[in-house]
Amino acid sequence: MTTVRILPEILSNQIAAGEVVQRPASVVKELVENSIDAGSTRITIEVVKGGKSFIRVSDNGHGLSRDDALLSIERYATSKIFTKEDLFSISTFGFRGEALPSIASVSKFCLVTRTKETDIGTKIDIIGGKIRDVSDAGAPVGTMVEVNNLFFNTPARKKFLKSDNTETSHVADAISGMALGNPHIQFRLFLNQKLAKNFSSADDLFQRSVRVLGRDVADRLYNFKFSDEFVQLHGVCANPSVTRSTSSKIFLFVNNRLVYDRGVISAIFKGYKGRIMKGRFPLAVLFIQIPFDQVDVNVHPSKREIKFFNGQGIYHAVSETIGNALSFEQQNITAYSKAHNILNEKFEYGDEAFKPNQTDRIEQSSINWPPAPVENKKDFFQEHSAQKSSPDITYNNPKLTCDLQVTCDHKVTIQNSRVTSRLKLTVIGQIMGTYILAQSEDGLILIDQHAAHERIVYENLKQRYHSLKVQSQSLAVPETLELNFKEADFLGSILDDLKMLGMVIEPFGETT
Ligand SMILES: Nc1ncnc2c1ncn2[C@@H]1O[C@H](COP(=O)(O)OP(=O)(O)O)[C@@H](O)[C@H]1O
Ligand SMILES: [Mg+2]
Repeated sequence: MTTVRILPEILSNQIAAGEVVQRPASVVKELVENSIDAGSTRITIEVVKGGKSFIRVSDNGHGLSRDDALLSIERYATSKIFTKEDLFSISTFGFRGEALPSIASVSKFCLVTRTKETDIGTKIDIIGGKIRDVSDAGAPVGTMVEVNNLFFNTPARKKFLKSDNTETSHVADAISGMALGNPHIQFRLFLNQKLAKNFSSADDLFQRSVRVLGRDVADRLYNFKFSDEFVQLHGVCANPSVTRSTSSKIFLFVNNRLVYDRGVISAIFKGYKGRIMKGRFPLAVLFIQIPFDQVDVNVHPSKREIKFFNGQGIYHAVSETIGNALSFEQQNITAYSKAHNILNEKFEYGDEAFKPNQTDRIEQSSINWPPAPVENKKDFFQEHSAQKSSPDITYNNPKLTCDLQVTCDHKVTIQNSRVTSRLKLTVIGQIMGTYILAQSEDGLILIDQHAAHERIVYENLKQRYHSLKVQSQSLAVPETLELNFKEADFLGSILDDLKMLGMVIEPFGETT
């Protein structure tokens, strides 16, 4: 006979943990959000082995009294909402009262906390959901939560965790999101006991965005702002010439909560339409403020999903605002002089063949493309072009409409082996700061200047590699490159090959 029973508390917490705590990064997110809700201005996150073996989040927030600390680890215990009405006007990150008991049920957990009203703090130790010890502890005002051996008692969950590097990169992404949403808070991230990120509390959104999105966007970020009676938008978006291969640098905040929403992401894409290559993703940080009763944040325990009551209105506001920001900054067909300057500045690599003829006027200016060497033997370039997206420029129907009503539906295919003859091009101008419009004997050519630049550098390196005439000179001040964890991993594996190309790159610490 079937017997219906209420689940023991530890088991129900472990089941809830399945939704709240998927990986170390979700633990970090929940703990840091608690620190933000507690009014902290300094938050330190320490992670060892991607968070699989150790996570510690400490803050200088208001802390908890002993009674509240003991309550906080009970399921559905929260200080953030009390009534049904509160559920529809949530301004804190937490409200479900699930995170602490869920995390404590699948780890060896320790909480130390003190309020400014008392001199002595409270320390609570929990192993696999069972309280082992509650004691007095000397502590500064604020809270520290330590999570050791995550999923030690749920081996099936532990098995699904990825490599240390992958988990670290999820943690770093989570911190980036929260750091962007709270530029006035100092965040420090220590990875394996080394300081990996330090976001200062003196940042404004623009400075914080540059720090998070990467220095290569510093002079290519546009601020935008929009408001009507229904919605307010603000944020930054990058020039379409800077893109990434994933959507990881699109950050979306709704009423300051970092969320994921397909509709809004596609609205951002609509704003960028015609400006970025297929398969590439823009960089953007978007804050949407709408009345609390216009959005439901209680769709999923992870609180990353939301539901807008007027999704259509948001879609239009976002796509128009982003489109306008980009148009205003760079949707113009620049005169010959500007394109010519860019060509001179950016396409000069010492090799005469790469230089446009500087004395020519627009009618005669030309870029002589060098022939691509024909390769037989398998080498570094062949190996790596097979692994990653090939640097070949292959655009299929980049449909582009711009101010001058030049509508181009032109197929440009330049395959590695096919650029064997010198192509004479006459530059007409530059469109949207992104494409070079040129004329050849065969007709109109659109060149994605960023991709072309990369291709020229690539061909140049390839030639040098094969002619073995590699010259290299140390920089007086070394350039530092900040990568994500996957990129750093990959770069580390090809350092020797890059040395043969004259590029001496040394790890500087973590992913720099
Ligand atoms: N870092 C912290 N500082 C102060 N109070 C905290 C902190 N972390 C948790 N708390 C308290 O513990 C309660 C339970 O936390 P949690 O389980 O994450 O649920 P929620 O955040 O949904 O309320 C919170 O409502 C808060 O009162
Ligand atoms: Mg919480």
